Amino acid sequence: MKIVVTGGLGFIGSHTVVELQNENFEVVVIDNLSNSSIDVLDGIERITGKKPFFEQIDLRDKAAVQAFFEKHDDVAGVIHFAASKAVGESVKEPLLYYENNVVSLVYILQELQKKPEANFIFSSSCTVYGQAEVMPIAETTPVQTAMSPYGNTKQIGEEIITDVTKVSNINAILLRYFNPIGSHPSAEIGELPMGVPQNLVPFITQTGMGLRESLSVYGNDYPTVDGTSVRDYIHVVDLAKAHVIALQRLVNKKNSDKLEIFNLGTGTGSSVLEVISAFEKVSGQKLPYTIVPRREGDVTSVYANTDKANTVLGWKTQSTLEEAIASAWKWEQKVRNSR
Ligand code: UD1
Repeated sequence: MKIVVTGGLGFIGSHTVVELQNENFEVVVIDNLSNSSIDVLDGIERITGKKPFFEQIDLRDKAAVQAFFEKHDDVAGVIHFAASKAVGESVKEPLLYYENNVVSLVYILQELQKKPEANFIFSSSCTVYGQAEVMPIAETTPVQTAMSPYGNTKQIGEEIITDVTKVSNINAILLRYFNPIGSHPSAEIGELPMGVPQNLVPFITQTGMGLRESLSVYGNDYPTVDGTSVRDYIHVVDLAKAHVIALQRLVNKKNSDKLEIFNLGTGTGSSVLEVISAFEKVSGQKLPYTIVPRREGDVTSVYANTDKANTVLGWKTQSTLEEAIASAWKWEQKVRNSR
């Protein structure tokens, strides 16, 4: 069964390609290599014994998207990861984000709408909930006005898909990720941030390697367990497996609605200091850090209610925070030592 994975060489995309191939799906990766490396294909091959079919396409090129779906007219499902995801950059360059994240989505859906039947999975984010009033966050928690153009592209994307499923043969699942971290346990693939990492765990592992002097902890005056902000960190392999289960749900017509939404998290919140101490435990070394003022736009606490994903999707995370951080650390060491 042929599955298209857009952004399939990126962080979450590449881990999902591995899990799809492990379940014997035939994977076609689309990636424009804007924030990924062609070498990821080799990493996937070393893990699974199989190199996915690869097409270097920029999804903002409507003609290229059309030509792709004409060539691959036997696609059973599309998992759409390809998007820009740096919050700060999106504030500076909103149109780049609307073009990359919204225009591309429209072009893909236009092609899928032509088919008698199509299955579509969308990478969304818990950012759509903003700072929810009640924790943990269930799928019924109201979506709030986006705090950045990036967040807005995820909300608009969700709305576009919702509208299109009402009038087309497209069945869709929106997956709202909490904070994905870690890497495949083989350390053959992992997160490869370009430039200075904005996300916590890659910044920690780079600091652990001595590439960065010290981690800035953004605020210790939040109303949380130790004053630092709380997130739900989920191992990327657990997250990848959820995509395979969601896809199987669609292709086996087990979905109860044309559009379904699932939160993907562990259900447990961890503070920044707890993440640091987990890193120190798995690496056996102290992490240099300083407390600095809060980062603009950060929320206090976000973690998932996983009931719906557990019971309806039949998926549950398996890895602990420490296992996820250990895998990120193993990957970081491998990347640095191989260069
Ligand atoms: C951010 C985005 C989110 C997006 C995700 C994509 C915001 C508000 N949210 O999530 O919409 O989907 O990235 O990757 O930007 N921290 C530090 N020091 C650092 C880096 C982070 O203390 O150097 C703290 C943050 O304050 C936060 C936690 O670590 O509490 C996690 O931060 P990060 O990894 O950037 O993820 P989010 O901000 O949760």
